[in-house]
Amino acid sequence: MTDRLFTKERKPTTPALAVSQPSGMVLARARAARSHRVPVLPVALALVVAALLVTGLAVAYGHERTPPAVSAVTATPTVQVPPAPQRPALRDLMPSGVRIGSAADGRWLSLDPEYAELLGSEFGAVTAENAMKWGNLEPSPDVYAWTGADQLLTFAEQHDQAVYGHTLLGQNDVPKWVDPAWPAARLRTVLRDHVTTVVSRYRGRVWAWDVVNEALDEDGSLRDTLWLRKLGPGYVADVFRWAHAADPGARLFINDYGVEGRTRKADGLLAMVRDLRRAGVPVDGVGFQSHLQWDDRPRDLVGNLRRFAQLGVSVAITELDVRVELPETPAKLDRQAALYRQVLKACLAVTECVSFTVWGFTDARSWIPGYHEGYGAACLFDAALVPKPAYAALIDELRRLPPRSGGVSSPG
Ligand code: XIL
Repeated sequence: MTDRLFTKERKPTTPALAVSQPSGMVLARARAARSHRVPVLPVALALVVAALLVTGLAVAYGHERTPPAVSAVTATPTVQVPPAPQRPALRDLMPSGVRIGSAADGRWLSLDPEYAELLGSEFGAVTAENAMKWGNLEPSPDVYAWTGADQLLTFAEQHDQAVYGHTLLGQNDVPKWVDPAWPAARLRTVLRDHVTTVVSRYRGRVWAWDVVNEALDEDGSLRDTLWLRKLGPGYVADVFRWAHAADPGARLFINDYGVEGRTRKADGLLAMVRDLRRAGVPVDGVGFQSHLQWDDRPRDLVGNLRRFAQLGVSVAITELDVRVELPETPAKLDRQAALYRQVLKACLAVTECVSFTVWGFTDARSWIPGYHEGYGAACLFDAALVPKPAYAALIDELRRLPPRSGGVSSPG
């Protein structure tokens, strides 16, 4: 269980959205509901408005936590979401030592109060979806743009959430100013300076980093990147060592996709992590992105997570979403829900699984439609922030757990 120890203890839980309403979201929906109804008699106006306000609030309040019967998304949910007063937030149901998180984009925190409220109430951790990527943080050499990442950190701290840093070196995130023609020594210096600057700035505030992201090819060998070509395979160990030197308290993960089941790529990652650990490289954990498709069946998810854990590292579900081939149907959303449940179950079945993170929580802001043509509807909440069967499945799965022994000590 030492792998589940964290540097930050969770303070008493922020009340869940379901409980802390009515607030902005409810009032906005109440306003929308009211705008469809026009009182006729001026004398009765005040009474009618008052009555409609109450009705509108009730409708909106219920709508928020009970899937509407007319929605295709929720027409035949497998599991009903309990009505408001009984509905706890996901973070409140997580067992001690496992965080539930979501990727988030700082822009929406200020532009979309409903988004911010749900993120703060349902999740005990946030991952920077894009704000901490190299190209965004350091748009020109030695010129840092911290605002987006800082905003997310501030939000997280205000909502008692842990921050998962993503990512120090990703295959797609090298800024344009990094010139592949530079000599190896110069490339090594810019990479080391970047890693050191970023990890030092957030020392003690980011609990875990995706240090190297998507380093492997589908066959399990190191991907052909600028870094492999110029610096050799030792670049992976170097980045971990630099990050550890900058914040010895941060948990350092290697993160990849296509490694959730027992694939060739997963075999390669396993061998790599074993070698790194044997060489004394400070790799603390392995992140399994888990960008899945509704009809996927990862092969032996639990067994796969366990064989990594046996190397002495933590494991984490870092970017779960389950895309659905459009048009979405209730049947597909039920399959999606089953897959979300399966991944949560797998994480909870493995003692070393320290966090379960979804890659965005609402279909309104998901990256999927932009990157996977013909697919969408990949998240726990629909575009109107109504919980989907997948959300209900997670709640149901968490409710089946034996009562917590650790009380509120969950890192949440
Ligand atoms: C994605 C973001 O969600 C998008 O907004 C961005 O345009 C591209 O990157 N694996 C990763 C993430 O590790 O960084 C990717 O995030 C999704 C796939």
